[in-house]
Amino acid sequence: MNIIGYLGSPRRKGKCSRLLDKTLEGAASAGAAVKRVDLIRQNIQHCMGCCKCMHDDPSREIGRCPLKDDMAALLEDYIRADGYVFASPVYDGSVTSLMKKFLERKLALSYRPQEAYATIGEARCPAEFKKGAVMIVTGNCGEEYRELMGDPCFEIMEAHFMIEQVSTTDKLYVGGVENMPEEVLVEKEKAAFDAGVRLVAEIEKSRQ
Ligand SMILES: Cc1cc2nc3c(=O)[nH]c(=O)nc-3n(C[C@H](O)[C@H](O)[C@H](O)COP(=O)(O)O)c2cc1C
Repeated sequence: MNIIGYLGSPRRKGKCSRLLDKTLEGAASAGAAVKRVDLIRQNIQHCMGCCKCMHDDPSREIGRCPLKDDMAALLEDYIRADGYVFASPVYDGSVTSLMKKFLERKLALSYRPQEAYATIGEARCPAEFKKGAVMIVTGNCGEEYRELMGDPCFEIMEAHFMIEQVSTTDKLYVGGVENMPEEVLVEKEKAAFDAGVRLVAEIEKSRQ
């Protein structure tokens, strides 16, 4: 089983990174092969809005995009994975622009006919709920702000999983991260580790 974790923080050794690593560690302890993708290190250009990928031949697993960057390879890995961990700090009440840029380019995984009117794109290769995902969101606002700060981020990321028919197994909001005492963060890391273990268990269960 392959699990890929995507880091949407520009800080590769920050709090979000630590929590992502723990989730991947948990998944590895449950038998998964894990990989971490630091989005800041990838060449991902802005979606230019042509929608060619979405209208491309529906028999293709990934619609072709005219932009030549790392995204085609990232999407090849994405569709082969069994599970995902999306990790993003809250920036300005939403996911980081880095994470958003990646999510927008995932449009190539959905198909919508050119002539469609007022419909939503459908997944080119739906997972049929046999894949799972964990979302991690970190913010400076404390956990009582989960609804205000965490939920908009979860919604943006989960929309992708809903269209792709991927089950979300955990949504972890960790608030008050700047100046968080180390022992508190270690407790949060334990919850992140457990989420990784659960992710693998839930994917296995869905395939029995
Ligand atoms: C540009 C910017 C905007 C931010 N906006 C918010 C916000 O709206 N709500 C919040 O709780 N924290 C906000 N933060 C704090 C970050 O969420 C926090 O620094 C981050 O989760 C820490 O993760 P990291 O160590 O991986 O960078 C913001 C930080 C930056 C740099």
